[in-house]
Amino acid sequence: MRTIVLYKTSTGCTKAYAEDLAKMVGGDVLALNKLNWKKALEMYDCFVFGGWVRNGVIMGLNDFLVHYDDMNDGGKDILVFSSGMSIPSKQGREELISSNILDLYHVRYYQLRGSFDLQKLGPINRFIMKRSLSYLENDPEASPERKSLSSLLERPIEYYDHEGVERIASVINKIASQKFA
Ligand SMILES: Cc1cc2nc3c(=O)[nH]c(=O)nc-3n(C[C@H](O)[C@H](O)[C@H](O)COP(=O)(O)O)c2cc1C
Repeated sequence: MRTIVLYKTSTGCTKAYAEDLAKMVGGDVLALNKLNWKKALEMYDCFVFGGWVRNGVIMGLNDFLVHYDDMNDGGKDILVFSSGMSIPSKQGREELISSNILDLYHVRYYQLRGSFDLQKLGPINRFIMKRSLSYLENDPEASPERKSLSSLLERPIEYYDHEGVERIASVINKIASQKFA
Protein backbone atom coordinates (compact mmCIF):
# COMPACT_ATOMS: atom_id res chain seq x y z
CA MET A 1 0.00 0.00 0.00
CA ARG A 2 1.40 3.40 -0.94
CA THR A 3 1.05 5.81 1.96
CA ILE A 4 1.73 9.52 2.28
CA VAL A 5 1.96 11.29 5.61
CA LEU A 6 1.17 15.01 5.40
CA TYR A 7 1.72 17.47 8.21
CA LYS A 8 1.23 21.01 9.42
CA THR A 9 3.66 22.14 12.11
CA SER A 10 4.69 25.32 13.90
CA THR A 11 7.72 24.20 15.94
CA GLY A 12 8.60 20.84 14.37
CA CYS A 13 7.02 18.32 16.70
CA THR A 14 4.25 17.22 14.32
CA LYS A 15 6.77 17.06 11.49
CA ALA A 16 8.93 14.68 13.55
CA TYR A 17 5.89 12.45 14.23
CA ALA A 18 4.99 12.49 10.53
CA GLU A 19 8.54 11.60 9.47
CA ASP A 20 8.82 8.75 11.97
CA LEU A 21 5.42 7.40 11.01
CA ALA A 22 6.27 7.49 7.30
CA LYS A 23 9.50 5.60 8.02
CA MET A 24 7.63 2.95 10.04
CA VAL A 25 5.16 2.26 7.23
CA GLY A 26 7.56 2.73 4.30
CA GLY A 27 5.63 5.76 3.09
CA ASP A 28 6.40 9.27 1.90
CA VAL A 29 6.18 12.43 3.98
CA LEU A 30 5.45 16.02 2.95
CA ALA A 31 4.26 19.35 4.33
CA LEU A 32 0.56 19.63 3.47
CA ASN A 33 1.01 22.89 1.55
CA LYS A 34 3.60 21.29 -0.74
CA LEU A 35 1.32 18.50 -2.00
CA ASN A 36 0.20 18.24 -5.61
CA TRP A 37 -3.21 16.69 -4.97
CA LYS A 38 -3.88 15.61 -8.53
CA LYS A 39 -0.70 13.54 -8.68
CA ALA A 40 -1.05 12.32 -5.10
CA LEU A 41 -4.55 10.97 -5.71
CA GLU A 42 -3.14 8.87 -8.54
CA MET A 43 -0.13 7.68 -6.54
CA TYR A 44 -1.27 6.88 -3.00
CA ASP A 45 -3.75 4.46 -1.42
CA CYS A 46 -3.57 5.85 2.09
CA PHE A 47 -3.52 9.48 3.21
CA VAL A 48 -2.46 10.44 6.72
CA PHE A 49 -2.62 13.99 8.03
CA GLY A 50 -1.04 15.25 11.25
CA GLY A 51 -1.71 18.76 12.53
CA TRP A 52 -0.70 20.67 15.66
CA VAL A 53 -3.45 21.90 17.96
CA ARG A 54 -4.04 25.61 18.53
CA ASN A 55 -6.80 26.55 20.95
CA GLY A 56 -8.66 23.33 20.23
CA VAL A 57 -8.31 23.62 16.46
CA ILE A 58 -6.29 21.04 14.51
CA MET A 59 -4.30 23.33 12.25
CA GLY A 60 -4.37 22.45 8.54
CA LEU A 61 -7.21 19.97 8.98
CA ASN A 62 -9.69 22.01 6.94
CA ASP A 63 -7.20 22.31 4.07
CA PHE A 64 -6.73 18.55 4.17
CA LEU A 65 -10.44 17.73 4.38
CA VAL A 66 -11.27 20.00 1.44
CA HIS A 67 -10.01 16.99 -0.53
CA TYR A 68 -12.05 14.46 1.47
CA ASP A 69 -14.52 13.67 -1.31
CA ASP A 70 -11.72 13.03 -3.80
CA MET A 71 -9.97 10.72 -1.34
CA ASN A 72 -13.16 8.97 -0.31
CA ASP A 73 -14.47 8.54 -3.86
CA GLY A 74 -11.08 7.10 -4.81
CA GLY A 75 -11.39 4.46 -2.05
CA LYS A 76 -8.43 5.86 -0.09
CA ASP A 77 -7.87 5.09 3.56
CA ILE A 78 -7.74 8.30 5.59
CA LEU A 79 -6.14 8.77 8.99
CA VAL A 80 -5.72 11.94 11.03
CA PHE A 81 -3.59 12.62 14.08
CA SER A 82 -3.14 15.73 16.16
CA SER A 83 -0.22 16.76 18.31
CA GLY A 84 -1.01 18.97 21.28
CA MET A 85 0.10 19.55 24.84
CA SER A 86 -2.99 18.12 26.49
CA ILE A 87 -2.51 14.68 27.93
CA PRO A 88 -4.54 12.40 25.62
CA SER A 89 -7.80 11.34 27.21
CA LYS A 90 -11.20 10.05 26.12
CA GLN A 91 -12.83 13.39 26.95
CA GLY A 92 -10.07 15.41 25.27
CA ARG A 93 -10.33 13.26 22.19
CA GLU A 94 -14.10 13.71 22.05
CA GLU A 95 -13.71 17.48 22.45
CA LEU A 96 -11.23 17.62 19.57
CA ILE A 97 -13.44 15.45 17.36
CA SER A 98 -16.44 17.63 18.07
CA SER A 99 -14.73 21.05 17.78
CA ASN A 100 -13.08 20.03 14.52
CA ILE A 101 -16.28 18.32 13.27
CA LEU A 102 -14.25 15.23 12.49
CA ASP A 103 -17.28 13.04 13.13
CA LEU A 104 -18.73 14.18 9.80
CA TYR A 105 -16.01 12.24 8.01
CA HIS A 106 -15.06 8.61 7.70
CA VAL A 107 -11.55 8.93 9.10
CA ARG A 108 -9.54 7.23 11.84
CA TYR A 109 -8.39 9.79 14.40
CA TYR A 110 -5.53 9.63 16.93
CA GLN A 111 -4.51 12.12 19.58
CA LEU A 112 -0.76 12.35 20.29
CA ARG A 113 0.90 14.43 22.95
CA GLY A 114 3.57 16.77 21.58
CA SER A 115 6.30 19.07 22.81
CA PHE A 116 5.99 22.72 23.67
CA ASP A 117 8.51 25.55 23.79
CA LEU A 118 7.29 29.13 23.90
CA GLN A 119 10.70 30.35 22.66
CA LYS A 120 10.43 28.36 19.43
CA LEU A 121 7.12 29.96 18.47
CA GLY A 122 6.90 32.68 15.87
CA PRO A 123 5.65 36.08 17.11
CA ILE A 124 2.00 35.52 16.13
CA ASN A 125 1.63 32.16 17.84
CA ARG A 126 3.58 33.38 20.89
CA PHE A 127 1.18 36.33 21.16
CA ILE A 128 -1.89 34.06 20.75
CA MET A 129 -0.49 31.66 23.35
CA LYS A 130 0.17 34.35 25.96
CA ARG A 131 -3.25 35.92 25.39
CA SER A 132 -5.00 32.53 25.62
CA LEU A 133 -3.24 31.69 28.88
CA SER A 134 -4.32 34.94 30.48
CA TYR A 135 -7.94 34.36 29.32
CA LEU A 136 -7.84 30.83 30.69
CA GLU A 137 -6.62 31.93 34.11
CA ASN A 138 -9.60 34.27 34.42
CA ASP A 139 -12.26 32.06 32.83
CA PRO A 140 -14.47 30.41 35.48
CA GLU A 141 -16.13 28.26 32.81
CA ALA A 142 -12.94 26.77 31.32
CA SER A 143 -12.89 22.99 31.68
CA PRO A 144 -10.33 21.47 34.10
CA GLU A 145 -8.74 19.91 30.99
CA ARG A 146 -8.03 23.33 29.49
CA LYS A 147 -7.09 24.92 32.82
CA SER A 148 -4.44 22.25 33.38
CA LEU A 149 -2.93 23.26 30.04
CA SER A 150 -1.96 26.69 31.33
CA SER A 151 0.23 25.30 34.14
CA LEU A 152 1.78 22.81 31.70
CA LEU A 153 2.93 25.53 29.36
CA GLU A 154 4.90 27.69 31.79
CA ARG A 155 8.15 25.92 30.85
CA PRO A 156 9.32 23.95 27.79
CA ILE A 157 8.12 20.37 27.68
CA GLU A 158 9.70 17.65 25.58
CA TYR A 159 7.34 14.80 24.95
CA TYR A 160 7.36 12.02 22.42
CA ASP A 161 4.50 9.52 22.30
CA HIS A 162 6.29 6.39 21.07
CA GLU A 163 3.33 4.13 21.79
CA GLY A 164 0.95 6.46 19.96
CA VAL A 165 3.02 6.57 16.77
CA GLU A 166 3.52 2.82 16.87
CA ARG A 167 -0.23 2.34 17.28
CA ILE A 168 -0.95 4.44 14.17
CA ALA A 169 1.77 2.58 12.21
CA SER A 170 0.33 -0.77 13.21
CA VAL A 171 -3.15 0.29 12.05
CA ILE A 172 -1.74 1.37 8.67
CA ASN A 173 0.18 -1.89 8.33
CA LYS A 174 -2.95 -3.84 9.23
CA ILE A 175 -5.02 -1.99 6.61
CA ALA A 176 -2.29 -2.72 4.05
CA SER A 177 -2.21 -6.42 4.86
CA GLN A 178 -6.01 -6.69 4.63
CA LYS A 179 -6.33 -4.59 1.49
CA PHE A 180 -3.52 -6.19 -0.46
CA ALA A 181 -3.60 -9.71 0.94
C1 LIG B 1 -1.18 29.47 20.51
C2 LIG B 1 -1.13 28.02 20.93
C3 LIG B 1 -2.28 27.38 21.32
C4 LIG B 1 -2.24 26.03 21.69
N1 LIG B 1 -3.39 25.41 22.03
C5 LIG B 1 -3.38 24.11 22.38
C6 LIG B 1 -4.58 23.43 22.68
O1 LIG B 1 -5.68 23.97 22.63
N2 LIG B 1 -4.51 22.11 23.03
C7 LIG B 1 -3.31 21.45 23.10
O2 LIG B 1 -3.31 20.25 23.42
N3 LIG B 1 -2.15 22.06 22.78
C8 LIG B 1 -2.14 23.37 22.44
N4 LIG B 1 -0.98 23.99 22.10
C9 LIG B 1 0.28 23.23 22.14
C10 LIG B 1 0.73 22.73 20.76
O3 LIG B 1 -0.32 22.14 20.07
C11 LIG B 1 1.85 21.71 20.92
O4 LIG B 1 2.97 22.36 21.45
C12 LIG B 1 2.18 21.00 19.62
O5 LIG B 1 2.80 19.78 19.92
C13 LIG B 1 3.09 21.81 18.72
O6 LIG B 1 3.32 21.08 17.54
P1 LIG B 1 4.35 21.60 16.44
O7 LIG B 1 5.73 21.54 17.10
O8 LIG B 1 4.22 20.63 15.33
O9 LIG B 1 3.97 22.97 16.06
C14 LIG B 1 -1.00 25.32 21.72
C15 LIG B 1 0.17 25.99 21.34
C16 LIG B 1 0.11 27.32 20.95
C17 LIG B 1 1.37 27.99 20.53
